[in-house]
Amino acid sequence: MQFLTWLVISTTLTQSNVTGGSRLRECNLRAIFNFGDSNSDTGGLSAAFGQAPPPNGITFFHYPSGRFSDGRLIIDFIAKSLGFPYLSAYLDSVGSNFSHGANFATAGSTVRPQNRTKSQSGYSPISLDVQFVQFSDFKTRSKFVRQQGGVFKELLPREEYFSEALYTFDIGQNDLTAGYKLNLTTEQVKAYIPDVLGQFSSVIKGVYGEGGRWFWIHNTGPLGCLPYMLDRYPMSPAQMDDFGCAKAFNRVAQYFNKKLKEAVEKLREELPEAKLTYVDVYRVKYTLISHAQKYGFDKGVIACCGHGGKYNFNNSERCGASKRVNGREIVIAKSCKDPTVRIIWDGIHYTEAANNWIFQQIVYGSFSDPPTSSLGDTNSRSCSEF
Ligand SMILES: *[C@@H]1O[C@H](CO)[C@@H](O)[C@H](O)[C@H]1NC(C)=O
Ligand SMILES: *[C@@H]1O[C@H](CO)[C@@H](O)[C@H](O)[C@H]1NC(C)=O
Ligand SMILES: *[C@@H]1O[C@H](CO)[C@@H](O)[C@H](O)[C@H]1NC(C)=O
Ligand SMILES: *[C@@H]1O[C@H](CO)[C@@H](O)[C@H](O)[C@H]1NC(C)=O
Ligand SMILES: *[C@@H]1O[C@H](CO)[C@@H](O)[C@H](O)[C@H]1NC(C)=O
Repeated sequence: MQFLTWLVISTTLTQSNVTGGSRLRECNLRAIFNFGDSNSDTGGLSAAFGQAPPPNGITFFHYPSGRFSDGRLIIDFIAKSLGFPYLSAYLDSVGSNFSHGANFATAGSTVRPQNRTKSQSGYSPISLDVQFVQFSDFKTRSKFVRQQGGVFKELLPREEYFSEALYTFDIGQNDLTAGYKLNLTTEQVKAYIPDVLGQFSSVIKGVYGEGGRWFWIHNTGPLGCLPYMLDRYPMSPAQMDDFGCAKAFNRVAQYFNKKLKEAVEKLREELPEAKLTYVDVYRVKYTLISHAQKYGFDKGVIACCGHGGKYNFNNSERCGASKRVNGREIVIAKSCKDPTVRIIWDGIHYTEAANNWIFQQIVYGSFSDPPTSSLGDTNSRSCSEF
């Protein structure tokens, strides 16, 4: 059996500067199927509910590309490093090409379906369980449609790619904010995390049941460092850390991550053929925010694209918002001058420069559990030896 592997024998974690993923290209990794929220949405929410407005996309795509960023997301850098085109959103019927995977993530997605009352509105109805249904449907139908030949053969993945694909997950942030929006206390938010992770694990098992074997799971980032939380829930100086982040929200994110790691460990026991990698994206993002200058970035937690307030973020005037002045539409929430030296894009999401930096940290496995898991490393064992 020829499966890919990203196991690295070398126990030293020195970073080599090989093109990320060169190793996996030699292996039989054929596709990426991604599940998540806006941290990895490449056009799902935009396709269903309207485009992310300009200046999203300003740095790289030069037009709004369905991403909530000035450019590419971590998932884009992963796809590129593995030699694949950027992932098309499953929901996007215009110009999509799914030959090497599909993206089921949508901005605002939660693991648990939200009760659609007013107080829980604002989240995507495409929660993780729905994303799994879409994936399952995609898998079944692409097999038959591909058999029709012609262009379908070029646009849909081969049947065997599903067991030779990387399944990536980045979701959970919105499950945490959903509780705070209902005015729950941190203790109450913590109390429902096991339920969130139970539903998360069910989806991993579902994908495994469909033949998925290679899982790359990002934990959730430092929620307390994001302007949309800092603006909505003002804190006293004592409740803030040295880098302008709200301690309580970061603690709840860390608690979520601890439980997520335990859930992944349990899944390893339950799914013997699965290779599950847990990636500590929290630590990478927090390192960047807390040492912004050291890594060539400016302004820590202040949003690049926005308008007003303490963090250049106003929830009623988010990035791209415009106003009618003397009969003319004027954009009031604009991009900062140089997004390439900024970490936070719009108060909720990261800039392309930050996403690239984060990708560079995680690609070699230094933040992975098991620590030997890497997306690309010249020291890795050949695939067949796995
Ligand atoms: C690898 O890349 C990093 C960051 O781009 C750089 O600082 C370092 O000098 C490079 N190392 C080698 C061996 O080229
Ligand atoms: C929605 O309501 C149902 C029934 O009350 C409850 O079991 C479920 O946990 C709720 N979901 C969320 C995300 O709060
Ligand atoms: C779809 O993408 C694949 C991989 O990049 C490419 O080989 C193929 O030509 C594309 N098909 C169409 C119809 O664009
Ligand atoms: C949460 O508290 C705020 C401020 O007291 C209030 O305006 C809002 O209606 C509350 N939300 C819910 C869902 O109870
Ligand atoms: C945020 O935007 C709203 C609506 O435009 C405005 O009324 C409010 O004053 C703004 N808040 C701040 C802090 O600038």
